[in-house]
Amino acid sequence: LTTAPFTVQMPVPGVLRPTTSTSTTDYYDITVKPGVEELVPGVSSGIFGYNGTFTGPTIRAWQGRQVVVRQTNRLDRPISTHLHGGHVAAADDGHPMDVIAPGGSKTYHYPNDQFAATLWYHDHAHHVEAENLFKGLAGFYLISSPDEQALNLPRGAYDVPIMLRDVRMADDGTLNWVMDDFANRLTILANGRNQPRFPVQARKYRFRFLNASNLRPFGLGLADGSTLTMIGADQSLLPAPDDVTSFELWPGERYDVVIDFSRYRVGDQIMLTNSMPFPNEGDAQKQILRFDVVGTASDSSDVPDELADAPSLPAATNTRRIQLGPFDPPSGTMVIDGKTYDGDRIDQTVPLGATEIWEIYNADTQYGLPHNFHMHLVHFKVLDRNGTPPPAAEQGWRDTVTVHPGETVRVQATFADHRGTFVYHCHLIDHASMGMMAQFQVV
Ligand code: C2O
Ligand code: CU
Repeated sequence: LTTAPFTVQMPVPGVLRPTTSTSTTDYYDITVKPGVEELVPGVSSGIFGYNGTFTGPTIRAWQGRQVVVRQTNRLDRPISTHLHGGHVAAADDGHPMDVIAPGGSKTYHYPNDQFAATLWYHDHAHHVEAENLFKGLAGFYLISSPDEQALNLPRGAYDVPIMLRDVRMADDGTLNWVMDDFANRLTILANGRNQPRFPVQARKYRFRFLNASNLRPFGLGLADGSTLTMIGADQSLLPAPDDVTSFELWPGERYDVVIDFSRYRVGDQIMLTNSMPFPNEGDAQKQILRFDVVGTASDSSDVPDELADAPSLPAATNTRRIQLGPFDPPSGTMVIDGKTYDGDRIDQTVPLGATEIWEIYNADTQYGLPHNFHMHLVHFKVLDRNGTPPPAAEQGWRDTVTVHPGETVRVQATFADHRGTFVYHCHLIDHASMGMMAQFQVV
């Protein structure tokens, strides 16, 4: 379902206020409950939301300052809130089996002992994670640091998170959940609105793009083909800015991008376009968001040539090979290394502090299925894809990486600080719900 495009303004999800703060910690309360949103103007949709909103409230965190979030479940089903990209203890990770029963609550502790980055939180309760995410259980979690602040990147009203995703919506607004039904999820949303407009001043903006879709990739660019400056990926700023004219954003991934609207005039309209629609899709899936230049504003922000230290890579002491797929349609289940997730089995045992190379191979050549590999706990560096080093935009610390059919992607991570059981899985999250998930235990 879609209606007249570019009539509503894209909302920016509100920043959540702590219920209390101490010298070391900010405490938050979130209630997960049903809500109603006009995802398409004039049409009401029932959703699940953190505090009842389709794009959950944004949590703003500081490196080294603790965040404690109490999540209360007012849905009729289990939930588990995972901080995607969080370097946290196993008990605070939002493990798929560590669920909050209906009516219950759980308190999560996040030390924020990690780089400034665009993280997000979303549901992860096994078997229902895909449906819970589809219905709206996702929000931003942004970590800042003194190093990052010193760079003088665009900030405040000029630092805008944008959550992109698709949904399948009936004419009456009902969100129709069907597992693995990617071809019918036609309504594209930016911060929970279909084809919105976003008024901008003729100056630099930092946009934090997140793909919170269950299955859909985006190929993002500006309709006039002009420059986007990539400054950050999943878990850190990039070592250096990278000017591109388009970039791919797969489910679970984030890219921080600076767009300089000072090259436009007041009154100009610039479309954010998607070059990766599914076959037979049209403008409704290709035109995602329109930036309307409405005024001028002074701009003292800057994008310096050096943004962050290049990832340091201690020598790896072990290499593991992980195979994603192949999918066996009659079974309806998906596998990693031939096994479906059972919530219990430990698939890899990793010594605390070890640095390892994981070689991820996508065996789904028969059906041509891409998979998006994601690991909890760690940040990793993508070493190469079929032996070729990754492009500049993949040179920072990541937690999610696309592996195309037949490809091998090598990543390197250090398993520091936290013992316990964490999952790795495909972030085409319907695949995870169908079993494409496994566990490592840090001992
Ligand atoms: Cu974004 Cu295991 O998840
Ligand atoms: Cu997958």
